[in-house]
Amino acid sequence: MGNLALTGGKPVRSKPFVSWPVFGKEEEKKLLEVFRSGKWWYGEKVKEFEESFAAFHKAKYAVSCCNGTVAIQIALKTLGIGAGDEVLVPAYTFIATASAVIHSNAVPIFVDVDEKTINMNLDEAEKLITDKTRAIMVVHFAGLPIDMDRVNAIAKKHNLKVVEDAAHSWGTQWKGKGAGALGDMGTFSFQMSKNITAGEGGIILTDNKEYADRARSITNCGRHVGQPWYAHYLVGGNYRLTELQAAVLLGQMTRLEKHLLKRQENAEFLNAELGKIPGIVFPKTDKRVTRRAYHLYLLRYMQNEFGGLPREKFIEALKAEGLPASGGYLTPVHKNHCFLELKSARGKENCPLSCPYYGKKVDYSKISMPVAEKLCKEQMVWLGNHSMLLGSKKDMQDIVKIVKKVHKYQKEI
Ligand SMILES: Cc1ncc(COP(=O)(O)O)c(C=O)c1O
Repeated sequence: MGNLALTGGKPVRSKPFVSWPVFGKEEEKKLLEVFRSGKWWYGEKVKEFEESFAAFHKAKYAVSCCNGTVAIQIALKTLGIGAGDEVLVPAYTFIATASAVIHSNAVPIFVDVDEKTINMNLDEAEKLITDKTRAIMVVHFAGLPIDMDRVNAIAKKHNLKVVEDAAHSWGTQWKGKGAGALGDMGTFSFQMSKNITAGEGGIILTDNKEYADRARSITNCGRHVGQPWYAHYLVGGNYRLTELQAAVLLGQMTRLEKHLLKRQENAEFLNAELGKIPGIVFPKTDKRVTRRAYHLYLLRYMQNEFGGLPREKFIEALKAEGLPASGGYLTPVHKNHCFLELKSARGKENCPLSCPYYGKKVDYSKISMPVAEKLCKEQMVWLGNHSMLLGSKKDMQDIVKIVKKVHKYQKEI
């Protein structure tokens, strides 16, 4: 019998960490208010939530919608991106960042990520700009903002639109302004796993009134505010949020700042303590980051510092000690079947990938993104989830104890 729980020892912890979602009287009160009012549809509460979310991120306008995937599609459509256009996207992200580009009939061009930040590698991005490139879509991965000064400078130089997929970064700030409000348009998700949630939901931020009006119209069947109900000015859809969702989100907003600060405090403690263990490497935070949301709590695992112990065994050992962990995405986005098989027809015109408007051909099976591939295959580890970071000092000490223990007794596995 060994010391590790995996080899028959006593686990460090049997108690679960803080679970998600966290909710209380605030959500109940607002939800009941809406429920009893009989006004469940796209009204006062949606408006109140949009204003409050925009103000929290120091954005001028917010347009809510039904989820974070659709929010990206609406942003791209608002910016006029479609057939024949290329959009730069990171190779290490959730599928929606790239699938939304396909849904907009444009071509995602994958850019490898920087292993120091897990965000898009901007040197690589610049090399991939062509006369077809219309937008750069960055993800502030796990809540860590990308260098937005540089993103905006690249966009200005090459006349590109900037879309921020801020689906991990409610409240993250770059030089005092909210992520999602730093480019042309920024999009968020309120799906169940997210740091504020109504089960599903999304929102788009912008400082541009014309974009906000157009995004609103796309979200609401092509209507224009103040115009007759059955007048439709563009081909939009129904992507609206409900009053019931907005009520829950208003409740969630009441503790967003407190939660942000708590997660940040706990994550900083963990970064400092776990960072002392050889083989545990954290993404680097730029000095211009003035507040940092933590959505995924992630680290890079260096197998050679753990006596060659494969990442999957390391994860198994953490779980056995009572710390939930996973290796995250199985592959970079472009290695998913849906992208590998995209080269064949998609509709009569074969748009977007071999579309007459595009005039080029893309085959995602032929591209290689070495950093994203290494992260997926051997280095990336996501610990617990963001609500774990709302826990007590003792919870955080247990996490440190667990990782130290696995490092110490690595030879037992
Ligand atoms: C980076 C990123 N973008 C977009 C989305 C899509 O959000 P939703 O699930 O609300 O459609 C997610 C969801 O996990 C995400 O992680």
